[in-house]
Amino acid sequence: MNIAANPVVEADQTVYLKDYQKPSFLVDSINLDIQVFDEQTYVNAKLVMQRQTAGDLVLLGRDLELKSILLNGKALSESDYTLDAEQLVIAHAPDQAVIETQVVIHPESNTQLEGLYQAGSDLFVTQNEPEGFRKITFYPDRPDVLSVFTTRVEADKKFPVLLANGNLIEAGEAGAGRHYTIWQDPTKKPSYLFACVIGDLAVLKDRYVTSEGRDVALEIYAVEKDIPKCRIAMEALKHSMQWDEEHYGRPYDLDNYMIVATSQFNMGAMENKGLNIFNTSCVLADEEFTTDAAIMRVQSVIAHEYFHNWTGNRITCRDWFQLCLKEGLTVFRDQSFSEDLQSAAVQRIDDVAVLKAHQFPEDSGPLSHPPRPDHFVEINNFYTATVYEKGAEINRMMSTLLGKEKFRKGTDEYFSRHDGQAVTVEDWVAALTAGSGVDLSAFLTWYNQPGTPKLEAKGQYDAAAQTYRLSLKQSLKAHPKYPDLKAVPIPVALALFNAESGEQLILNSSALVENAVQDGVYLFDAESADIEFSGVAAKPVVSLLRNFSAPVDLEFNYSDEELAFLMQHETNGFNQWQAAQTLLERILLNDHAAGIYIQAMKNTLPELIQKDPLLASRLFDVPSEGYLGSRIDAGYSPAAIQEKRNALLETLARELGAFCKETFLALDPDLQKEFSQAMGVRALKNIMLGMMARQGDAQAFELAYEQYQATGNMSERLGALRVLVWNDAPQAQAALEDFYARFKEEALSLDQWFMVQAAHPKASAATIQYLTAHPDYDLTTPNRIRAVSGGLNANPVNTWSFGVQHFIGLAKYLDEKNPIVGSRLLQALSRWYTLAEPQRGQVKAELEALKLQVKSKNVSETLNSMLNV
Ligand code: TRP
Ligand code: ZN
Repeated sequence: MNIAANPVVEADQTVYLKDYQKPSFLVDSINLDIQVFDEQTYVNAKLVMQRQTAGDLVLLGRDLELKSILLNGKALSESDYTLDAEQLVIAHAPDQAVIETQVVIHPESNTQLEGLYQAGSDLFVTQNEPEGFRKITFYPDRPDVLSVFTTRVEADKKFPVLLANGNLIEAGEAGAGRHYTIWQDPTKKPSYLFACVIGDLAVLKDRYVTSEGRDVALEIYAVEKDIPKCRIAMEALKHSMQWDEEHYGRPYDLDNYMIVATSQFNMGAMENKGLNIFNTSCVLADEEFTTDAAIMRVQSVIAHEYFHNWTGNRITCRDWFQLCLKEGLTVFRDQSFSEDLQSAAVQRIDDVAVLKAHQFPEDSGPLSHPPRPDHFVEINNFYTATVYEKGAEINRMMSTLLGKEKFRKGTDEYFSRHDGQAVTVEDWVAALTAGSGVDLSAFLTWYNQPGTPKLEAKGQYDAAAQTYRLSLKQSLKAHPKYPDLKAVPIPVALALFNAESGEQLILNSSALVENAVQDGVYLFDAESADIEFSGVAAKPVVSLLRNFSAPVDLEFNYSDEELAFLMQHETNGFNQWQAAQTLLERILLNDHAAGIYIQAMKNTLPELIQKDPLLASRLFDVPSEGYLGSRIDAGYSPAAIQEKRNALLETLARELGAFCKETFLALDPDLQKEFSQAMGVRALKNIMLGMMARQGDAQAFELAYEQYQATGNMSERLGALRVLVWNDAPQAQAALEDFYARFKEEALSLDQWFMVQAAHPKASAATIQYLTAHPDYDLTTPNRIRAVSGGLNANPVNTWSFGVQHFIGLAKYLDEKNPIVGSRLLQALSRWYTLAEPQRGQVKAELEALKLQVKSKNVSETLNSMLNV
């Protein structure tokens, strides 16, 4: 890297996959002693180390005050080692080395929420993935060093709860009003999975007996008043434990499983062995205080962290380049779990919507990287939609291709080969291949190159021969850093429908993975290919990439009529939704008429609302302004997009107005038997309210205010509040005041109060000023920052005007205080280069000015990449 071009991030800070080397020393065991005091924490560590290869003994450590170090019982002096800001190195160490260190750390002033930190007055927690453990003690802090941990935790008795990984083996008095516990974790683990918790928390307890007969104590820790909100998470945990036994043959392996909730957390949750630590937003669920969407998220994150016990913990990553090995697989597993909890089509819709709204834009812009990157400056910047969501899609493709049985044989092989090891993406694909008997090695290409493949398809019907020919072509946009892009294997799930009757046809084509079926899969693994279906009696309608069988950008020259046909006749709910989305995108970006879409909605909805209200609610999705903007690569005008989208919404409100009101009045969530159905009905009613308000129906505000007041359900209350606030209803102020008074002690609910105001389409710099100056705004709580920033970012017109200052100010402030969060928030501006002038030049100048003012690797790397377009 050229230093002149990169004054902030220096050349030697880049780490490359190709430079991987085994650690010279392994750690057989570590004994940790952590003593927490108000003004500092003492950490004593004893590492029993053994040489594995030639080289120095390297211990990583950051922000540690070293008090003493012993090697094999002998005190070392400063001349016996070299110590800098990142590491302590002992040259010529003996092959057997017992290292004992004493350090002092300062969790009470740790604002980065990494390592051991104080999270409010009553709690200390850890976050060690990926590189936080080095902020607790000197250690070879890398995932390929696995060790047995024994942990002593000592603190004042004002903190009754003292937890660490594994089994509690001792507890007692420590004098001077203090006490301690000792924990032993029998399973070898990398340091990023170490956790301890010191606090004043209440606990919800339950049990689960595994298929092997192990009786596991389940505990969720939270502040007293939140304990009733932990019940849904507890049910989800038991369900996850059973699900992993049934679907992957993986029982739990310890006698306890603990979850701790904290309101101060950089991300969603963390899978520390036997002791997960969760953002409150991902564990507390209660219909009075949190929305249906939040409840679904809690269940999926509980499952995600639980599933990591096998995919991540028992089998971990060799190095951080392999992050998508554990994340991509675990996301695929939690998505499959969630598909069993609600309408499977809707789960798929929601997952693909996230992929298209976040991963596709990331992959087409300056932050694009392969699911397995080959270099990075700051690994925290690579917990991305590409690593997680595209990583999950790669696993889904392989599972689609193999089918249930063979996929299970493949995963069985993976678990039996690699249990207890730190492995690579190649190991995973090789095990799947060996277990299933199907060569999947071509899928490695997906892991190694960036960009969303474009899939161009054309169809041709030959009436005389009664054949339908499908021509496919794939391509990738050239990437400066990856000159040799290759074709990837794309499973194309497809169906043919009779255009007259709407019936699904039997497919006759030897090209399919399985012939003579209705639901076909074709493995497209070349630059281009033609396949032919025979015995097709009349011109069919084809449905491609069903259930989104591959993460590609599909281009097919459908007529609007064919899309409307699929909205009404597709039997795959995802593709039904996708047809509506494609049609809407054409209306919005290519000025097609809206009439065909509206008619198709009118034809489809009455029956669908009865059958699957949740899916019906998703059919009303209109691509967001942000998503539409991400489809434009140059000359992007947020205001123009907003205008078009608003015009369409007006049309829909006018044309569907009567239907909306009838539906609103007819639906009652309390009459639904299943949660998924009730959730659908609530979603539909909120959408109807929004349409009625847009139509100018005077009664809409009254109905919304009535719903707001009468309900005890957060989705209903918040849905009504949104309609009132975003439409500047006369009742808006009263409702906002009421909401604040009701929920001011409930942080997650209050986040929604901030969000709703920040997301007002006509929010201004003054709105943001008011919210960020509010006494309940808090720059030390990422959830609160995200509530305002996320709300603001819901309207790109606002993001790209006064929002620019907001995000740049945050990045500057957080650069030192919390660079992980600062770097992520700044990415809201990553598509600046697509803007039309003069906005483009203005934002660029702001970003360049920021570059001179930031120091963290996190923010600098992101900024350098963002400007490198
Ligand atoms: N491994 C966590 C997960 O996906 C995510 C994670 C990585 C994380 N770094 C973090 C969570 C920092 C919180 C804070 O399940
Ligand atoms: Zn994860």
